[in-house]
Amino acid sequence: MPKYAKEQPVGFKNAVERIAIVGAGGTIGSRIVAALLETGKHKVTALSRKDSSNKLPEGVLVAPVDYDDEATIVAALKDQQFLIITMAPTAPRDTHSKLVQAAAKAGVPYVMPNSYGGDIDNIKLGEETMLGPVGKAHTDEIERLGMQWITVCCGFWYDYSLAGGEARFGFDFDKRSLTLYDDGNTKNSTSTLSQVGRAVAKVLSLKELPEDESDQSLTLSEFLHKGVYVKSFVVSQKDMFESVKRVTGTTDADWTVTHETTKKRYEDGLAQVRSGNMAGFSKMLYARTFYPDEANDVSAKAQNELLGLPEESLDESTKVGIDMLKDLQRRVERMAS
Ligand SMILES: NC(=O)c1ccc[n+]([C@@H]2O[C@H](COP(=O)([O-])OP(=O)(O)OC[C@H]3O[C@@H](n4cnc5c(N)ncnc54)[C@H](OP(=O)(O)O)[C@@H]3O)[C@@H](O)[C@H]2O)c1
Repeated sequence: MPKYAKEQPVGFKNAVERIAIVGAGGTIGSRIVAALLETGKHKVTALSRKDSSNKLPEGVLVAPVDYDDEATIVAALKDQQFLIITMAPTAPRDTHSKLVQAAAKAGVPYVMPNSYGGDIDNIKLGEETMLGPVGKAHTDEIERLGMQWITVCCGFWYDYSLAGGEARFGFDFDKRSLTLYDDGNTKNSTSTLSQVGRAVAKVLSLKELPEDESDQSLTLSEFLHKGVYVKSFVVSQKDMFESVKRVTGTTDADWTVTHETTKKRYEDGLAQVRSGNMAGFSKMLYARTFYPDEANDVSAKAQNELLGLPEESLDESTKVGIDMLKDLQRRVERMAS
């Protein structure tokens, strides 16, 4: 692939204008679409199952697809410059591969695979949470098919994980209970859904390639085959609890706080997963990611400044999370896995 725009054929426009996205109506996909549309620089096409009841955001073109009919996916991806995949973890395992294979057939040069998790370079954490090998298989397949990828390393979504039930950040808002992992002081780098959306939109709004050897500007090509590292807050559960109390106007007296070791939670969650009970997955994942001294912290690698991402308020983001409670509770099946 040419390294500079000047090597491209006449008529080449050095920008990613046509973007296809899977999951435009989903948790992270909807935030990515909102941020992309806000730039005014992109035409966004939502690939959506033909029988989907998910509401798609205004301003996107809709391409209905049938994952059992590859021609529908190839047709939806024709002439697209970038495919973003944000797919429910509950989707059948081979759906990602179906999309990637169709993207290769349609000639899409770039894919953002389903991931949106921790540091892809932290192999041990990836293996012990089972997510690393899945992510690696996705990026390997994209490369094998001759395309290029950019993935997002954002850590846990702060607002979503706060509201997502006891198995995630330990909070049960209905019962006003909190399970602190170990002493509750281990910090994790987290990102709000909106910050992830903005980060993706920033990268996709960069020039695709440098104009020539002298062009020092930041380009999309610099992110290829790497993670985009982003963060909002590096916080412990105790930091979150202080914020929750401020936002809800409650005190320690209103909450029941218990402790459990991350090691026990990890082992319990893992045993459940191994016995086929996916309800253990979040418990296993979050406990492992909060191991003292081995927690996920991408803050040293975070590219917030490089991408011009804003500073956010912890309490405002806590409020956003609490406002998501009802919505997440409606997704019973999903939140149990
Ligand atoms: N960092 C974190 O804290 C965190 C938390 C949760 C998830 N994640 C990761 O983020 C990614 C996206 O998760 P999400 O919560 O944004 O997804 P989601 O909202 O649950 O779903 C996204 C889209 O997937 C499609 N979909 C749903 N069920 C499907 C099925 N059976 N077959 C095919 N497509 C289906 C739907 O699109 P249509 O209806 O339009 O077809 C839906 O809008 C996943 O990789 C997940 O592991 C990260």
